[in-house]
Amino acid sequence: MNEEINGDLVAHTLPDGARITLRPLEPTDALAVREIFEHLSPTSRYQRFLAPKTHLTSADLRQLLSVDHCTHEAVIAFDERGVHPIGVARFIRGYGVHPEVAEIAVEVVDAWHWRGVGSALTAALVLRAYALEVLQFSAYVAHGNLGATSLMRRVPGRLGRVGSESGAAEYRLVLDPAC
Ligand SMILES: CC(C)(COP(=O)(O)OP(=O)(O)OC[C@H]1O[C@@H](n2cnc3c(N)ncnc32)[C@H](O)[C@@H]1OP(=O)(O)O)[C@@H](O)C(=O)NCCC(=O)NCCS
Repeated sequence: MNEEINGDLVAHTLPDGARITLRPLEPTDALAVREIFEHLSPTSRYQRFLAPKTHLTSADLRQLLSVDHCTHEAVIAFDERGVHPIGVARFIRGYGVHPEVAEIAVEVVDAWHWRGVGSALTAALVLRAYALEVLQFSAYVAHGNLGATSLMRRVPGRLGRVGSESGAAEYRLVLDPAC
């Protein structure tokens, strides 16, 4: 359940009753992006970045903060007190080649897994995709990452696996705004 607090800040009640907040990520959110990364387990970091990752480089941070709310859109979630960031979901369009296709990535700090944060972030991102005329998401998912595939199955649309490389599969999700 979503409830607008003010402007872009939205309250969302998780299935267990916890009330989190969501808002667009901004280029000034470096501390929050770092904090989320610090609270991902090595497995979650691997699943998110498809490589072992011990820290974010300044180039990583620049890229993760390069949101312009058009080509690169992202939504961030905060805990019940609105203090600690607990997850972020983003899409990045195909750099002009196929502007209607965007690559999606989601991460939720491990202490908040399985509570619906990933679903809430993805739902908010899907609304932004509709508004920005993104018609398809692509996602690279590590083999065996059932959380990521479950998350995508919740989105209205048609999900298919379109490729596979060592360690990861590429999924394509054709969005269906009518659902
Ligand atoms: C994938 C991820 C974002 C899911 O976040 P979450 O907040 O735990 O997700 P939710 O609680 O909203 O659950 C969404 C669905 O996934 C399922 N799920 C979540 N984690 C799961 C897991 N480890 N194994 C199997 N299913 C899982 C839930 O049961 C739910 O399914 P349902 O809708 O059928 O009930 C989170 O596990 C994560 O950050 N993982 C590391 C990074 C990553 O893998 N990102 C995705 C690739 S870019």
